[in-house]
Amino acid sequence: MNEVPNESPTDERGSLLEVRNLVVRYGKNSTPAVDDVSFTIGHGETLGLIGESGSGKTTIGRAILGLVPVTSGQILFRGRDITRASAAQRRELRGDLRAVFQDPFSSLNPRRPIGDAIAEPLRVAGVSKLERAARTAAVLQSVGLPGGSADRYPRQFSGGQRQRIAIARALVTDPRLVVCDEAVSALDLSTQAQVLNLLADLRRGSDLGYLFIAHDMAVVEFLAQRVVVLYRGRVMEEGITDEVIRDPQNPYTRVLMAASPVPDPDEQARRRELWQVLRAESKAAAS
Ligand SMILES: Nc1ncnc2c1ncn2[C@@H]1O[C@H](COP(=O)(O)OP(=O)(O)OP(=O)(O)O)[C@@H](O)[C@H]1O
Ligand SMILES: [Mg+2]
Repeated sequence: MNEVPNESPTDERGSLLEVRNLVVRYGKNSTPAVDDVSFTIGHGETLGLIGESGSGKTTIGRAILGLVPVTSGQILFRGRDITRASAAQRRELRGDLRAVFQDPFSSLNPRRPIGDAIAEPLRVAGVSKLERAARTAAVLQSVGLPGGSADRYPRQFSGGQRQRIAIARALVTDPRLVVCDEAVSALDLSTQAQVLNLLADLRRGSDLGYLFIAHDMAVVEFLAQRVVVLYRGRVMEEGITDEVIRDPQNPYTRVLMAASPVPDPDEQARRRELWQVLRAESKAAAS
């Protein structure tokens, strides 16, 4: 299995991230949470990872970030095997490989101004105080937060603003890849649309890659060039997002799409509404 041909959407630098036959088991004899999953992300590419609750999305993200042990398979980041990277090797990766999670509030210290939290990875990397302040101010501006935000505390921000803070903290080190795990799921629809637009803007003209984990195909359609559909830890389908949406090959993919019926009418209505808000945003952005 070592000679996996490189058929990913890559350039002369190779792929940004390559996941090969990844298996993650939480208990010795338990069924794998992630079962033989392979995919690649090219430089500057956004890959959507979609699947119902419990399908293994977060586990894949955490395996890439080194937060859960890999049972078997390989993870390569910029050609380098990081499957079982040591703590010291992980520290080296910390600036290049970043994460945005669903609930940024839980990871923000309520007693520290948010500028400190954003500058923390720079401080660890030995960046001077003056430069930290400058880069923090610049990144806050780039995510659309008002001047002076750096001195304010987490509770003084709305949910959408806190998500922008989490994005700022991920981007301040100028990373290569950001793992976004349900980064917008907790927000109301119009705030979701704003944050998704922000992510799309930040990516434009940059070499930044995203692994974008979501429940909704609408969100993936808006942001991701390619999509991987996961079901019970296995890849059901993979392809160019537009093609998968136009002509899903797997019945399970249809279930995930807003247009297809889901058993829960509230959930169905919610998906339809999100889909419509994002479609409208997409059109507005394109014109
Ligand atoms: N720390 C853990 N210990 C044991 N089992 C776990 C652990 N974390 C996740 N699992 C199991 O692994 C499987 C995949 O979980 P995971 O959190 O990766 O799914 P997910 O696709 O992210 O779901 P959601 O959409 O709800 O976030 C599930 O069966 C879950 O119960
Ligand atoms: Mg999850």
